[in-house]
Amino acid sequence: MKFTVAIDGPAAAGKGTISRAVAEEFGFSYLDTGSLYRAVGVKVLEIGGGVIDPAVAARLAGNLSQADLDRDDLRTAMAGQAASKVAAMPAVRAALLDFQKTYARRDGGAVLDGRDIGTVICPDAEVKIYVTASDEIRAARRHKELVVTMPDLTVEQVLTDLEARDARDANRDTAPMKAADDALLLDTTALSIDEAVQQAIAVIRARLK
Ligand code: C5P
Repeated sequence: MKFTVAIDGPAAAGKGTISRAVAEEFGFSYLDTGSLYRAVGVKVLEIGGGVIDPAVAARLAGNLSQADLDRDDLRTAMAGQAASKVAAMPAVRAALLDFQKTYARRDGGAVLDGRDIGTVICPDAEVKIYVTASDEIRAARRHKELVVTMPDLTVEQVLTDLEARDARDANRDTAPMKAADDALLLDTTALSIDEAVQQAIAVIRARLK
């Protein structure tokens, strides 16, 4: 059976949590596509030099290994910013396209979360959900995650970081972050994790019938 759930939205809106829960509920495979861009971003930072050569970044994107995706430094704010810089490069996106398209149509169902899943990677996805939340709530949630390893980090710093990343993701020319016309909008600002997950599950269950 092929069944794709496309979950898009800005940083820290709850996409990852919802995606994992949905994948577990229905026994679907799950791909966090942000980790692909983060892995490229972190490798580019390692090469250093400040200026990022798109050809080099694209070559790295085309040669990602499982070890690159399993690194434990992919969730840092620095990795997020580096990811969003390489994600604006058409050659990097092109290098990651086939892998994601194939993953989306794998047997047994797949959940992919990102920014362009419902618009570019899988425009024919059976279910598309665009997850949002207010900037303040997103910053507070992400701060709670990051402060464990970065005790000096403030909510304001996280908010500034998220806003910069969202602006870059929404305004780039290639595959900008946006809701597909046929996506369900799920605003998690006033929802608990469980409520948000249950809403997503209900939509998928209805489509599977
Ligand atoms: O979702 P996450 O915050 O891990 O994504 C990191 C960055 O990767 C995003 O800010 C965005 O620039 C990029 N990205 C993207 N397209 C996707 C997934 C992530 O451009 N499908």
